[in-house]
Amino acid sequence: MTVKERPLLRRAEAARLSDVSNDFAATNPPSGATLELSDVAYHYAGKRGQRTAGLGPINLMVGAGEFLTIVGPSGSGKSTLLSVLAGFLKPQQGQVRLAGQVVSGPDPALTLVQQEHALFPWLTVAGNVAFGLKSQRVPGDEQRRRVAAALAQVGLPEYGERRIHELSGGQRQRVAIARALATRPGLLLLDEPFSALDERTRTDLSEQLRGIWQEQHITVVFVTHNLEEALKLGERVVALRDGMVVLDAPTQELSVEKLRAVMEEG
Ligand SMILES: Nc1ncnc2c1ncn2[C@@H]1O[C@H](COP(=O)(O)OP(=O)(O)OP(=O)(O)O)[C@@H](O)[C@H]1O
Ligand SMILES: [Mg+2]
Repeated sequence: MTVKERPLLRRAEAARLSDVSNDFAATNPPSGATLELSDVAYHYAGKRGQRTAGLGPINLMVGAGEFLTIVGPSGSGKSTLLSVLAGFLKPQQGQVRLAGQVVSGPDPALTLVQQEHALFPWLTVAGNVAFGLKSQRVPGDEQRRRVAAALAQVGLPEYGERRIHELSGGQRQRVAIARALATRPGLLLLDEPFSALDERTRTDLSEQLRGIWQEQHITVVFVTHNLEEALKLGERVVALRDGMVVLDAPTQELSVEKLRAVMEEG
């Protein structure tokens, strides 16, 4: 549901949806954060301690509320970049700043949704979505409100009491996104979140994610192998090759052919 589509809805329907989204906005205000990478490098240690493949050094600036997609061949450093951004890997060089603050470890202000939805099978859907809120010590009432609002945002308002094994792959990915949104991140990181899904589900979820982004003004960094998806979703595309940025351009200046050519250049 995009803001633009709303006037086309019947009045009662629009009121109902706007209740959900106002409710969500009240507990989850627009909070896109600026992201700044200066001279960031991360290289994995090889067998004898020598530096091997990895990332950078790279410089990159992502504006508050911007939707950036990252593409690149397998092994080009996309997941490494996201792990550094999420604070899971500490760069050996340079700094990552989120809203001006140096990222020094995992933080609720930035959440990572991975390809393999890492949901907890022993918790219900609602329990999974509330997981980050418990560690943030958000009070119970507020937790319930945020869980309901986040599940409504991803189109699963009735699924709170379900178990994870009762969900389809697409529904599980929606729960993973709801869990990320519930913590009110200023930055949402997604590492090939839809790659295991069929084409139709992938398109539906992409549109839903874009709708959420438009409504909440979150800063989004989205990694994908799929060049069409990168161009459709993002406002700007960064291409990596061998851990380095080889292209950084607004989506409207790009085509699948151009992206493919840049990534394949030796
Ligand atoms: N834990 C690790 N230890 C050593 N090397 C690693 C480790 N993780 C990744 N690498 C190497 O770092 C490079 C970048 O890996 P990364 O996972 O970031 O690539 P990617 O672009 O996400 O690839 P894909 O599209 O296949 O997911 C690769 O050469 C990979 O082999
Ligand atoms: Mg990867």
